[in-house]
Amino acid sequence: MPQHVQGVIAPGRNEPVRVETIVIPDPGPGEAVVRIQACGVCHTDLHYKQGGINDDFPFLLGHEAAGTVESVGEGVTDVAPGDYVILNWRAVCGQCRACRRGRPWYCFDTHNAKQRMTLLDGTELSPALGIGAFAEKTLVAAGQCTKVDPAVAPEIAGLLGCGVMAGIGAAINTGNVSRGDTVAVIGCGGVGDAAIVGARLAGAAKIIAVDIDERKLAKAKEMGATDTVDSRAGDPVEAIRALTGGFGADVVIEAVGRPETYRQAFYARDLAGTVVLVGVPTPEMKLELPLLDVFGRGGALKSSWYGDCLPSRDFPMLIDLHRQGRIDLGAFVTETIALDEIEKAFARMHEGDVLRSVVVL
Ligand SMILES: NC(=O)c1ccc[n+]([C@@H]2O[C@H](COP(=O)([O-])OP(=O)(O)OC[C@H]3O[C@@H](n4cnc5c(N)ncnc54)[C@H](O)[C@@H]3O)[C@@H](O)[C@H]2O)c1
Ligand SMILES: [Zn+2]
Ligand SMILES: [Zn+2]
Repeated sequence: MPQHVQGVIAPGRNEPVRVETIVIPDPGPGEAVVRIQACGVCHTDLHYKQGGINDDFPFLLGHEAAGTVESVGEGVTDVAPGDYVILNWRAVCGQCRACRRGRPWYCFDTHNAKQRMTLLDGTELSPALGIGAFAEKTLVAAGQCTKVDPAVAPEIAGLLGCGVMAGIGAAINTGNVSRGDTVAVIGCGGVGDAAIVGARLAGAAKIIAVDIDERKLAKAKEMGATDTVDSRAGDPVEAIRALTGGFGADVVIEAVGRPETYRQAFYARDLAGTVVLVGVPTPEMKLELPLLDVFGRGGALKSSWYGDCLPSRDFPMLIDLHRQGRIDLGAFVTETIALDEIEKAFARMHEGDVLRSVVVL
């Protein structure tokens, strides 16, 4: 029997979000219904509401979530009712050319639930990033569920479902930060701070946090930055070079998503260094660089989707490291809120005074 639950939808471009009754079908083959316990508010949810992702309104928002599997459809063997899971937006297919080459974190054919959740009048909803977890329950592909240790509270565990994983993975997976490296992180919101946590975990010797907001720089220091650069106060490229013996950093992580900060990242890395773009640009942005500098400086220019994570490998590992006290995922949770407070959380995000507001259900 389809179930009725409460969920938060974005009805149309820039219209305020609202709580509505959502119809959740029984899980079909390969699908699971998950009872959501917590879901973080991410910048991408705001992008959906503003129409910045696509025009498939109405959206069922929320995608950074942890919860408990309630029921599974035919053929699901990896998770079972009662399992405590983190949801991910990339259920890997196992069949595409990336998966077949043993590089499933690049999977080119990730999937979500086949059935649609709807409003009471039958209007089909587009779940944000194929998840839709600002709701008491949601329907996903079973491969979007990764079982983790239930000892970690859902408001903390759920954050690995998006921004925190993207940042940590940008450092440890895409950037391959290694012991003794110098690292600079440009943009210290939730994603940049997570990159700092990842760089520290990987053994970076120096971690330089760059931002234009002193509150963000103070927080970055708490998260493990060894040095901070306020890029309003002078050229951040010069400042990063000055902090790295005049050379630049081995790995520079761009977590803003703008051409000017990408250019800073490009010139603030050492010869043969790596730039990781984890910030998401908008379609009209363009970048111009002397091709000779691209060639002459060597190294690697990479982008990082979802931290090149493999949920089945990375979520349980990071939950274990959190339990051991080697990373503190709780430091990303600024406040917990109710389902009807998401507009307020968007406003606070805009003011820059939260890393994460997390809806607890
Ligand atoms: N690649 C992925 O898979 C992935 C996943 C999640 C989010 N993201 C993207 O990562 C980016 C950061 O997300 P977030 O949640 O941390 O956002 P956020 O808004 O919390 O943080 C952005 C930070 O950049 C700083 N900033 C802005 N302009 C700057 C400049 N010119 N120089 C230095 N710092 C500057 C801001 O002060 C802020 O601290 C966004 O573009 C987001 O869409 C990417
Ligand atoms: Zn695949
Ligand atoms: Zn997100």
